[in-house]
Amino acid sequence: MTAKTMKAIRLHEFGGPQVLRYEDAPVPALRPGEVLVRVHAVGINPPDWYLREGYRNLPPEWRPVIPFPVIPGTDVSGVVEAIAGNVDGFAVGDEVFGMVRFPGLKGEGAAYAEYVAVPVAELAHKPVGIDHLHAAAAPMAGLTAWQYLVELGHDQPNPLQAQRHHPVPLDGKRVLVNGAAGGVGHLALQVAKWQGAHVTAVASGAHEAFLRELGADEFIDYTHSAPEEVARDLDLVVDTLGGPTTGRFLRTLKRGGALFPVFIGFSDAQEAAQRGITVSMTQVRSSGSQLAAFGKLLDAGTVRVAIDSRFALAEARAAHERAARGHLQGKIVLTVADGEAW
Ligand SMILES: NC(=O)c1ccc[n+]([C@@H]2O[C@H](COP(=O)([O-])OP(=O)(O)OC[C@H]3O[C@@H](n4cnc5c(N)ncnc54)[C@H](OP(=O)(O)O)[C@@H]3O)[C@@H](O)[C@H]2O)c1
Repeated sequence: MTAKTMKAIRLHEFGGPQVLRYEDAPVPALRPGEVLVRVHAVGINPPDWYLREGYRNLPPEWRPVIPFPVIPGTDVSGVVEAIAGNVDGFAVGDEVFGMVRFPGLKGEGAAYAEYVAVPVAELAHKPVGIDHLHAAAAPMAGLTAWQYLVELGHDQPNPLQAQRHHPVPLDGKRVLVNGAAGGVGHLALQVAKWQGAHVTAVASGAHEAFLRELGADEFIDYTHSAPEEVARDLDLVVDTLGGPTTGRFLRTLKRGGALFPVFIGFSDAQEAAQRGITVSMTQVRSSGSQLAAFGKLLDAGTVRVAIDSRFALAEARAAHERAARGHLQGKIVLTVADGEAW
């Protein structure tokens, strides 16, 4: 039997990490096509603190009205506790992972909790070769790498640009990943390597050994050399920092190359056109089928998810304080299930 209340992290107002409150909340009710997941671990992602801060980094017209109290978070790994009618492919007791209801900017994912209701199309079976800690770290960052680099996988309108995003061929190509040690960066690097690219990783120097171990062919310490001054003749730049400075990478690309910023702010369209560079972005979307495909790489050890740090669910505030200090090497994860193997 499912308890009627659970522990969760909820926001009652916007603010710093101190507004993350560990408290009782109702166990979510299931709607048709959903399963209830007993959460073992929660991966944390930048949209979690964008929500906590009231999306002050987004243009005002993009900021949604948030219905307090709200449970942040999207990425979970856990065990199926209950199933609503009409669900195929999952049974009570299955180990699963997923990115829940993203993009849903109003906290629809509600993942910082002991239980989460997940549309079945957003779930995949957890790879048996990795534990819940690593599986929870994978969904948003992994799907971002997959949808940017391998397959978009949907026909929804692109909120970040008028045209559809198209991945580019990577076999034998020269790819630079900026922010390579971070959540998206370290997975994008490995996906590009898996696809046959020669990869240059850009990060601060402390991450060099880590990134070479993940397969980086070349490394640029941005604290010593500006990557846009050093790199040349690239086919693709994946800029996980993005923002207004992303246009500096245009000069590093061959004519016919592509720049994929992962965060909004690009404003050098004229220079891109003159140089014959395609600039393209997309917003990651939940997908159980893509997670299942990505999960095979995790299972085989072809792609490894790195854990920067872990905290108990009740310590979500400390996890967000860690995130705010920056320089992440992989992912931050919250652990939920008591005394279990994560
Ligand atoms: N389009 C989408 O749908 C989508 C999806 C996921 C994420 N995002 C966005 O992508 C961005 C990255 O997310 P994330 O989860 O990967 O963040 P993250 O885990 O915090 O990683 C950021 C990384 O960037 C590095 N970094 C910081 N300053 C740098 C600089 N000047 N040059 C090079 N590297 C630098 C940091 O370490 P070092 O400084 O120590 O190297 C860190 O490893 C966020 O803005 C997020 O909102 C967008």
